[in-house]
Order: sequence, then C-alpha cells, then structure tokens
Amino acid sequence: MHLPWGAISPGSWAVPGLEKIVSYYKYHVFFCTNQRDNGEQCCAQCGAAEIRAYAKARIKELGMNGEGGVRINTAGCLDRCELGPVLVVYPEAVWYSYVDREDIDEIIDQHLIDGRVVKRLLI
Ligand code: FES
Repeated sequence: MHLPWGAISPGSWAVPGLEKIVSYYKYHVFFCTNQRDNGEQCCAQCGAAEIRAYAKARIKELGMNGEGGVRINTAGCLDRCELGPVLVVYPEAVWYSYVDREDIDEIIDQHLIDGRVVKRLLI
C-alpha cells in the first residue's frame, strides 16, 4: 500500500483468537463536539466543531486521509468535560486538550506525522 506521506505505516497488533489485526486507519481521532444547554462546561462552547473541521481539512490537505491514513471524527461527550475541549487519538488512546489551531497543527505534525506524543497537551 502506498502512503502519501511516507513515514507512517498502518498499525497492526495481535488479538487473542485472531492471527493479526491491521487497522483500517493508522490513526483515528475523535473530537468531542458535545453541546450542553444547561450551562455546564462542554466542548462545543470552546469551538470544538470549528477546530474539528479545521483538523479534517488539514489532514485532507496533507493527503493523509483515507485507508491507512488518518480519520477525523466527531464524537459526543467523552465524559472528560471539565478538561475540554478534548480529543482522543487511537489506537494509542492518547488524550489531548487544545486551545486553538496551532495546538492542532502541533498534534498533526508531531503525533500523527512523526508518531511522538505532544506532552504539553496531554490530559
Ligand atoms: S462535553 Fe466534551 S467531553 Fe463532555
């Protein structure tokens, strides 16, 4: 399989009872965009939908979307509201909070391209 940005190859791991699992996406990123109408903290009030749309567009612009690449998805409440806005990157289950597009660029460049966790944004 050809990967447009080179360094990343699809993840694979062993699961008891199966020979080998190869993930369809290298990274699956879920952005909570949940909106609460009761005044409690929620990711939507921090601009999560706009930032998720930015991330999705940026991944596509970089040619990283699609099979073997990166999928950006919307999620409902991930139950870490007080730390929001939040996103989680699978398969590692690495959780981040972010403030702006620069934080997303850093997650894309460092984690999704280089495979290194962005420690300053971890939650
Ligand atoms: S509203 Fe985003 S984690 Fe709950």
